Amino acid sequence: MSSLQAPRGTFDVLPADAARRAVLETHARRILGAAGYGRIETPTYEATELFARGVGEATDIVQKEMYSFDDGGGRSMTLRPEGTAPVCRAYIEHGMHKQPQPVKLWYLSSFFRAEAPQKGRYRQFWQVGAEAIGAAGPETDAELIILMADLYRAAGVRDLHLRLSSLGTAETRREYREELAAYLHAHEDGLSPEVISRIDLNPMRAFDADDRRTQETMRSAPILLDRLAPEDAEHFERVKALLDEAGLTYQLDPALVRGLDYYARTLWEFTSGALGAQSAVGGGGRYDGLIEQLGGPPTPASGWAAGVERMLLAAGEQPVPTDVVDLFVAIAARDSPQAQDAGFKLANEARRAGLSAQLELAGRGLKGQLKHADRLGARYVAIIGDPMQISLKDMEAGDQTEIAPEAVIPTILRGSRVA
Ligand code: HAM
Repeated sequence: MSSLQAPRGTFDVLPADAARRAVLETHARRILGAAGYGRIETPTYEATELFARGVGEATDIVQKEMYSFDDGGGRSMTLRPEGTAPVCRAYIEHGMHKQPQPVKLWYLSSFFRAEAPQKGRYRQFWQVGAEAIGAAGPETDAELIILMADLYRAAGVRDLHLRLSSLGTAETRREYREELAAYLHAHEDGLSPEVISRIDLNPMRAFDADDRRTQETMRSAPILLDRLAPEDAEHFERVKALLDEAGLTYQLDPALVRGLDYYARTLWEFTSGALGAQSAVGGGGRYDGLIEQLGGPPTPASGWAAGVERMLLAAGEQPVPTDVVDLFVAIAARDSPQAQDAGFKLANEARRAGLSAQLELAGRGLKGQLKHADRLGARYVAIIGDPMQISLKDMEAGDQTEIAPEAVIPTILRGSRVA
């Protein structure tokens, strides 16, 4: 084997896997298209500053996980680690605030994060994402969450759980962080050293700690959800009521933390019990301040992204439709240039007529060609010996008839058996 391999944390998508991905893409297009989302594709890399300002200087993504490079002209560029900041950049750049709001966009793209690779965690991975920009209401959040659940259902994701929270406004969060940090400092003897070291950096992390004593201490910690401003609490109540009405079950998780700084108000994450440690199949939230932060007009927005590889892993084995082969063109007289030409022509004409057709290209003997046609599941095999006489074999019925070359395609198009 060559010593050249795909870079660590990346993978090749081979045809069988590509077929599963194509099915997933069809579901995404159908579900999001039916709700009025238009496809968007942004560049694979952007100015580093976009992510630093958009995702947040203090996040793990920006601090440790970005693939950044000099574009040759002294400007720092970064392979996109996520899609929300680029979509907002495009919204601003193309003046989309002048269009009827909300502007609803979806994407299926690959993203890059320099993380330690493990099952379900890669350095290049794909996401299906949806962003609704320019709508402030709780209906938008609830609709987005329901669309996400619809995608998981269509994809066959098993053992799905939804965790839901609200972060309130930046001001509520600032006050809450201070209150939580004060609580943690006052209870340091009930916390692990690691949690203590992070109190002033990110007190919310204490809710995630594995340490038993810390978990015990956190049971009486102040909860952000109890401190929401009245209008934020009302927004959240309405989101919950709409999800209840849609029959979607969720678990309130006041300690839900996501690794991106742009969120405000509604926040959610879907996990699958069919996955291991990397159980998040997707997440999202409202990000009302982001567009303004990137230099656009104040614009409310909400959205989500679902990990393609994790959805496929969480779905397990799924039946994938195989490609139909209508016609296999076998060459019996392999030494005859006329037979070769006739076969080549027949395969091309069959494709132009809308059939799927494959030509023998590997120089197999006739027996090997028929075996190969069978392996491909070909409906018909045209066997070319004398170029003026073609034997058309109906693989299902097993019968074989001599017909004129021009009769081959019409016969297959009629789908009729060889008479
Ligand atoms: P995120 O939670 O960072 O959110 O990523 C969304 C999903 O992408 C994760 O739940 C996971 O399924 C998948 N994912 C993330 N990192 C990896 C990785 N290294 N390998 C495999 N899969 C991964 C966002 O990216 C936000 N932009 C979502 C959003 C859109 N919020 C608002 N709009």
